[in-house]
Amino acid sequence: MVKICCIGAGYVGGPTMAVIALKCPSIEVAVVDISAARIAAWNSDQLPIYEPGLDEIVKQCRGKNLFFSTAVEKHVSEADIIFVSVNTPTKTQGLGAGKAADLTYWESAARMIADVSKSNKIVVEKSTVPVKTAEAIEKILTHNSKGIKYQILSNPEFLAEGTAIEDLFSPDRVLIGGRETPDGQKATQALKEVYAHWVPEDRIITTNLWSAELSKLAANAFLAQRISSVNAMSALCEATGANISEVAHAVGKDTRIGPKFLNASVGFGGSCFQKDILNLVYICECNGLTEVANYWKQVIKVNDYQKNRFVNRVVSSMFNTVSGKKIAILGFAFKKDTGDTRETPAIDVCKGLLGDKAQLSIYDLQVTEDQIKRDLSMKKFDWDHPIHLQPMSPAAVKEVSVVWDAYEATKGAHGICILTEWDEFKTLDYKKIFDNMQKPAFLFDGRNVVDVEKLREIGFIVYSIGKPLDAWLKDMPAMA
Ligand code: UDX
Ligand code: UDX
Ligand code: ADP
Repeated sequence: MVKICCIGAGYVGGPTMAVIALKCPSIEVAVVDISAARIAAWNSDQLPIYEPGLDEIVKQCRGKNLFFSTAVEKHVSEADIIFVSVNTPTKTQGLGAGKAADLTYWESAARMIADVSKSNKIVVEKSTVPVKTAEAIEKILTHNSKGIKYQILSNPEFLAEGTAIEDLFSPDRVLIGGRETPDGQKATQALKEVYAHWVPEDRIITTNLWSAELSKLAANAFLAQRISSVNAMSALCEATGANISEVAHAVGKDTRIGPKFLNASVGFGGSCFQKDILNLVYICECNGLTEVANYWKQVIKVNDYQKNRFVNRVVSSMFNTVSGKKIAILGFAFKKDTGDTRETPAIDVCKGLLGDKAQLSIYDLQVTEDQIKRDLSMKKFDWDHPIHLQPMSPAAVKEVSVVWDAYEATKGAHGICILTEWDEFKTLDYKKIFDNMQKPAFLFDGRNVVDVEKLREIGFIVYSIGKPLDAWLKDMPAMA
């Protein structure tokens, strides 16, 4: 029986291993983590992450061929294939601060593997790590090998949160990078056989190590660039009276461009896009490619601009001040169908409004109060450290209350900001909400989820990203 161990029971490791266990009954999968609380949650009815369809799979496999454990060393020493999907935060100090990946957790995982291994291992890089990490890890392992052979593979994960299970069941592609030596090819083949249990052969791409690592950064950079492109257009639409939905639809009909991933928004978030682009920029700079670095930096600049623009629009519309005003925040997660808040645009928008002394009442379907308060009190880049290393009792943010109902959040509010595209926000009783708000009642839709015309009929002053502006908003131009 093949044994797999995955180090890191997070958003990537958890769902990926659950699907491998489901699809490969002949493989025993152990997911290990240094966080006892996280492992306890994986072994409970309340999984540590919310992902549609995940509960059922975990219930079906747990205790049979899927195990969650803190016995990291035991499972690593027994495994044939070790996936590493630990945190790779952005460095906050020293060389490459604010851009380069901090490989502390990766390095400590690699040294632990070298310490406890007694048989040959295939070590698979699963977390996104910058190009040439595999080489560094290979060096740590081979210099501490005690005669044991290690093969390093890069197998980047392309799943998106909220659709992780679907993405894992039928991936566009599985990418495996390995050494072009006979042993490297054998290791690649062994991993390929795992995926071949359910993924058609023609969707499993094999490349060399560096191409696989770079492809992951490139794919995320291209995706983020599409969003910054459509968001840049949304600003021009607002300034000129065009409608971004119509423009995006027309543009996406070109089969060379395609219709997906063209929704204008308050900005992209998530644990990957910004971090991966920053890594890409750092690698370009290290290789003297200043123009290329600047090109990709602009994707992040436009994203920051979009978030700022939204905050400015809110404040300027409401007579240039939100001081002391209750603003309802609907949605805090970085996208719908997840409880994940990593790099969510809601953090920047809320901080911007708090900077103008607003009183926020926040409602999200999945994010806990503790998480929201932690996010609003954390420093930039500090989010991506293991949970137990983050502030235990987040500093109280007294201007923020977190409630469990959209009607409660909006009661008595001057304005509403929709920051996540949860389906629920499409079908709220906006008449009832309007009746309970201060007047004039403002609604700022950062995700294009509401029917603008209907809301205007009710009496709202509505702003929706990239849509023709209300006469009111034209009279109150947002500062660029
Ligand atoms: C992304 C990649 O899609 C995935 O392949 C990779 O493995 C990890 O990074 P994820 O961050 O989970 O996945 O979600 P994604 O659906 O890509 O959304 C990222 C952000 O972009 C979200 O904040 C989302 O709301 C935003 N977005 C997405 C838009 O603003 N407009 C769009 O059209 C699409
Ligand atoms: C373009 C648009 O495609 C077309 O829709 C519009 O109506 C007019 O502008 P055209 O300039 O005739 O058409 O040719 P196109 O095939 O788009 O190529 C433009 C340039 O891009 C060429 O120099 C081509 O060699 C280059 N190109 C295209 C690349 O370098 N790489 C590619 O992958 C595609
Ligand atoms: P991702 O989104 O890439 O899955 P997460 O932050 O959700 O990232 O998960 C990473 C997990 O890795 C965390 O649960 C963290 O506790 C765990 N981790 C970090 N370092 C180690 C280590 N050396 N050994 C075991 N687990 C680790």
